Amino acid sequence: MSKDYYDFIEAVDRKTGINLSLYKEAQMKRRLTSLYEKKGYTSFTEFYSSLHQNENLLKEFLDRITINVSEFYRNVKRWEVLEQKILPDLLKEKHKIKIWSAACSTGEEPYSLAMMMLNLLPASSFTIIATDLDASAIEKAQIGLYSERSLAEIPKNMKRRHFIHQGAYYKISDDIKSCVTFKQQNLLKDRFESQFDLIVCRNVMIYFTEDAKDLLYHKFSGALGKNGILFVGSTEQIFNASKYGLVSADTFFYRKTI
Ligand SMILES: C[S@@+](CC[C@H](N)C(=O)[O-])C[C@H]1O[C@@H](n2cnc3c(N)ncnc32)[C@H](O)[C@@H]1O
Repeated sequence: MSKDYYDFIEAVDRKTGINLSLYKEAQMKRRLTSLYEKKGYTSFTEFYSSLHQNENLLKEFLDRITINVSEFYRNVKRWEVLEQKILPDLLKEKHKIKIWSAACSTGEEPYSLAMMMLNLLPASSFTIIATDLDASAIEKAQIGLYSERSLAEIPKNMKRRHFIHQGAYYKISDDIKSCVTFKQQNLLKDRFESQFDLIVCRNVMIYFTEDAKDLLYHKFSGALGKNGILFVGSTEQIFNASKYGLVSADTFFYRKTI
């Protein structure tokens, strides 16, 4: 790692608590270099000295490192497996289900979970916690306005039931909103709650180094209750699941065995 980038990472960690050394280096460097070049800086050192004093630039930087792309029912076939196989199995054993959408971005994922759960159970029978590093993504989630594009994969009856069409946007209904509790959290640093029946962590592990992934799989496993399920993204298969006390329950779903 170049000295320039190493010093930048250290300074960012001190200022924001975000440890960029746990994110894949080449990818992160590329994203940040293109940002600072666009702004007219020529090195990470120069970039940091402005970042340090300029709130707006800091916001742009945070925006660049947190890639918020999301959609409702992302990879819809996996959500069908969740609804038709994984949840019915969980519900055979449990009457109250505790769910965590980790790295929830602007809310599409936890709200998809809320729609699915409300279709199966009364709201009093489940809790959904949704967390993300990015406070502005959480703010957007709490507002709950979405473009047509983010609704492309959602089942039609869910779209009809839970959204109000407002101009160019769709507003999520209050009954769905009230099922989700949002919190800011850094997965790489903060403590995890425990006894989850279902943890959904999708499309964020791809940005992390192998060491960070290893740490996180251990932490997720520790946060699951007995027979709890970890649902990962469609490029994020865990190759050595047994190391974390997990077994495959279906493609991209892992059950805790211990
Ligand atoms: C591509 S989005 C994934 C959203 C959703 N899970 C999905 O699959 O559609 C990645 C999210 O990870 C969040 N993120 C990145 N690093 C994080 C960290 N260290 N802790 C918590 N969230 C993080 C970003 O802020 C962003 O909202």
